[in-house]
Amino acid sequence: MDKSRVRILVVGSINMDLVMSLERAPEAGETVLGDSYTYIPGGKGANQAVAAARLGAEVTFCGRVGDDANGEILLENLRKNGVDTAYITKDKDSQTGLAAIPVDATGQNRIIVFPGANGRVSKEDVDKALEQTYDAVMMQLEIPLETVYYTYKKAAEKGIPVILDAGPAMKVDLSRFEGISVISPNESEASAITGIKVQDEESALEAARYLARETKAGYVLIKLGSKGALLYEDGRHEIFPAFKVKAVDTTAAGDSFTAAMTLKMIEYGDIRKAMPYANAVGAICVSRMGAQPSLPTAEDVSEFMAQRGL
Ligand code: ATP
Ligand code: RIB
Repeated sequence: MDKSRVRILVVGSINMDLVMSLERAPEAGETVLGDSYTYIPGGKGANQAVAAARLGAEVTFCGRVGDDANGEILLENLRKNGVDTAYITKDKDSQTGLAAIPVDATGQNRIIVFPGANGRVSKEDVDKALEQTYDAVMMQLEIPLETVYYTYKKAAEKGIPVILDAGPAMKVDLSRFEGISVISPNESEASAITGIKVQDEESALEAARYLARETKAGYVLIKLGSKGALLYEDGRHEIFPAFKVKAVDTTAAGDSFTAAMTLKMIEYGDIRKAMPYANAVGAICVSRMGAQPSLPTAEDVSEFMAQRGL
């Protein structure tokens, strides 16, 4: 393999997404008719792995699938995308993770995740994967929290930069991420972690200050959807605006943004320089349907940016 490529370990979840397009999502107790449905490879971890691989990183995945048909399909899909699956365990005692995702006419989604095998990703799995050398480790919160904390501890001991995409929304023990390189929630995740309702620049900044204080992270990066992202470092902040595109499905926007940011931050040695690229990747992702089919290649991103004079 080409050793000039950035080597990224993703420790995270793999799901089969059952995506249904409908006019609007049902209220509680209501039934609505959908327009179409399809099965699409997803899972926050796998989305980040495939996103980084398509953009040119050398990606290794640590996680679990069930010993079932979906597991096989998802493993094959990762391999096809050039992701090293040597540290993915086929768990005989659980099913592959599944996510039910209704997407409405405005492109907004709602996600219900059945974790299955993702709920059994263990410290031992992580130890094996960390026997190799990496330039960065990316994690999310769709596997057991104790495994996430452990991954950070072990990777930090080895001096590897760790990036936490803090989704899905939940409370975590921030002291367990002390000194992490980057913590990156979206608005609802930042609200859940900090207890501050994040809805505009001011509240995002307040949440970023809170996260920086509690974790002493190198950078806090709050994803703000169509408004772009807020980067906070050492008392200073900057908004990096999103590109204007027509959103058809936001699924995996955050995942692709974090993967692109990680790859380019390592490549350029400068997180600020990575931001327009990450926003471009997020914008392309929202303009396409589904999780992994919407993830751009490096060529797609170059073309997108060139069309905008960048
Ligand atoms: P997900 O739907 O995968 O959970 P997320 O909520 O974690 O996504 P967002 O904050 O919605 O993440 O989006 C991540 C990034 O994608 C944004 O920072 C931005 O760069 C890009 N993005 C999201 N929505 C839009 C949009 N409507 N137009 C342009 N860019 C967008
Ligand atoms: O971030 C999007 C992902 O969240 C989907 O692919 C779904 O599987 C859930 O994990």
